[in-house]
Amino acid sequence: MTSTLPTVCDQVLVDEAAIDQRVAELGRQIAEDFEGQDLRLITVLKGGLFFLADLCRAIDIPLRVDFMAVSPYVVGSGGTVRLTKDLSDDIGGASVLLVEDVVDTGLTVNYVLSLLRAHHPARLEVCALLDKPARRIADVPIAYRGFSLADRFVIGYGLDLGGRYRNLPYVASLRDEVVLP
Ligand code: IMP
Repeated sequence: MTSTLPTVCDQVLVDEAAIDQRVAELGRQIAEDFEGQDLRLITVLKGGLFFLADLCRAIDIPLRVDFMAVSPYVVGSGGTVRLTKDLSDDIGGASVLLVEDVVDTGLTVNYVLSLLRAHHPARLEVCALLDKPARRIADVPIAYRGFSLADRFVIGYGLDLGGRYRNLPYVASLRDEVVLP
């Protein structure tokens, strides 16, 4: 599918073909690494949903999916994140892969990992489509990384600007003059 670049964007940073190829590679690697384990893919709504949907279909071993939600990231909130939707399934003793759209400061993943650890999974790893290490505050271990990006605000493939643009099939950077909500 082709999609017109929205006027708020200046360029496509990761196109559909690159996403498809990387998702397939990650899926193969994860299937190999988690073979024979009780694999659970968990993501944080809403951004990670799109990546999880493609990634789980690239993993050729049995798995289950589950979802959490946290309060929206607020610039200048001092890193406060709050759980608004908990897991549906028990993950005690399971092999959990936390699937994230982007790790920026790392505060969200750090918080979600602490919540997941409290359920005593046998294994807990992070798979992030995008890693933006420039603004990292919490040092989070990323076992599976799609792409590493410079410090730009990006939209598409799950990532939003005020709730919009998640459905773009690629990841594009915002023009510098666009004010974040
Ligand atoms: P962190 O807690 O700073 O690592 O940021 C995590 C959350 O902030 C992500 O799950 C996104 O919801 C949001 N976020 C961070 N960078 C971007 C971006 O470039 N575009 C859209 N959302 C972002």
